[in-house]
Amino acid sequence: MSNSAHAEPWPACFPRSFRRNYPRVLRGGGAWLYDERGSKYLDLAGSAGVSFIGHGDRAVAQNIADQLGRLEFAHTSMFTTSAAEELACDLLAFAGAPYRGGSVYFTSGGSEAVETALKLARQYQMEIGHGERFEVISRRQSYHGATLGAMAVSGNQRRRAQYLPMMREFRQINTPYCYRCPYRCADCAGAYAAELEQALEQTSGRAAAFICEPISGATLGAAVPPREYIRHIRRICDAHGILWIADEVMTGCGRTGRNFAAEHWQAAADIIVAGKGLGGGYAPLGAVIATRRVVEAIADGSGSFVHGLTYNAHPVAVAAGSAVLRRIKQAGLVGAADCARPGSVANAFSAALESLGECRSVGDVRGLGLLRGIEFVSHRDTKAPAKAGMAARVADAAQRKGVLVYPMQGCIDGSRGEHLLLAPPAVISNDQILWGTEQLRHAILDIEQQE
Ligand SMILES: Cc1ncc(COP(=O)(O)O)c(C=O)c1O
Repeated sequence: MSNSAHAEPWPACFPRSFRRNYPRVLRGGGAWLYDERGSKYLDLAGSAGVSFIGHGDRAVAQNIADQLGRLEFAHTSMFTTSAAEELACDLLAFAGAPYRGGSVYFTSGGSEAVETALKLARQYQMEIGHGERFEVISRRQSYHGATLGAMAVSGNQRRRAQYLPMMREFRQINTPYCYRCPYRCADCAGAYAAELEQALEQTSGRAAAFICEPISGATLGAAVPPREYIRHIRRICDAHGILWIADEVMTGCGRTGRNFAAEHWQAAADIIVAGKGLGGGYAPLGAVIATRRVVEAIADGSGSFVHGLTYNAHPVAVAAGSAVLRRIKQAGLVGAADCARPGSVANAFSAALESLGECRSVGDVRGLGLLRGIEFVSHRDTKAPAKAGMAARVADAAQRKGVLVYPMQGCIDGSRGEHLLLAPPAVISNDQILWGTEQLRHAILDIEQQE
């Protein structure tokens, strides 16, 4: 990679890894990305679960340009904008009836939105006279963001271990993981939920909220909870007077075949956190969608949320979000991501992924809609972990064949376990799905031969 005016042997733009050379991407279109050397890549990772409407959407680009032409920025301490009001209204409607009369706080991404949600839950408890409530219970093997507050409630050990001395830690419970279920799936929905009840009792009334990803994202690779789990969670939070924060940064905005994933279980969180697919990659955008009850406590109480971000509700970012949401609705992309719908691309994707079962290292293929995980093992019968680094080697091999996937480590216990996350754009075609899955199968077979 050329560093032109840069004298050091590393890139001027801080890279994810100093051990890798990253191709320079030039442009995108639909499910494809094109680099400067003329290679093209089918984006089965959706750029880490971001690109739901696909790359290079002209209508979104136009909406952004139009907003920029009118107004680039005004501070929310002085103004609101119709761009922000419009997206907030649309998003409340998109989130459904439980959010009628609620309000949306826009941020510049998922981590900021999680921080905002944590503080909102704390202030809600203070407003209703529960100043003693501040703890946030979360789950092991989860991910809620890179900033210190979001990291403190995350359970991804690799990403948090070295920062632990800098964090305030609260109680964590297990994330449902039926492939390696500690309860052997004997009423495991009830057993996992009982862990929340127990953790709450240990807080002696100090808990303000519980945060979880309704379907595990990158850390466990799209592990879907047992059927009754989310409804148990909802009931327990209500019984203990705490708020349920659903982190739908990865699962929201259509990704799993519902507007928000909690809808799979007819459940509604008090606070939804959205990101990734909300801006769809067209702008850094996150959102905290709060129910009327939460907003009312502040509006009728102290009157202001003690929180502020310079780029809260940035006009260009929310204009991008509006156009992305419009595209999702106009093109029926939530339906396209519904794997239970015959003829949908998600349905075709489920079928195509079955072919990976031929590979001896594939232990589990899981997920919902267009959020899928593949866990590798060294022996299927014993589920013994795959060799460390296998997922990354498969991802590299797939990239050489022109397919992008998202490799992760640590699904078993935070350090052992190898898996891929797949999250293609909903505009992908059936032919592209077949081709991409076939390349991935060959990449896995290649790596199996070398192991
Ligand atoms: C579930 C979940 N929450 C929060 C985040 C943090 O979002 P961001 O990286 O946009 O700050 C992520 C990012 O991967 C995520 O998957």
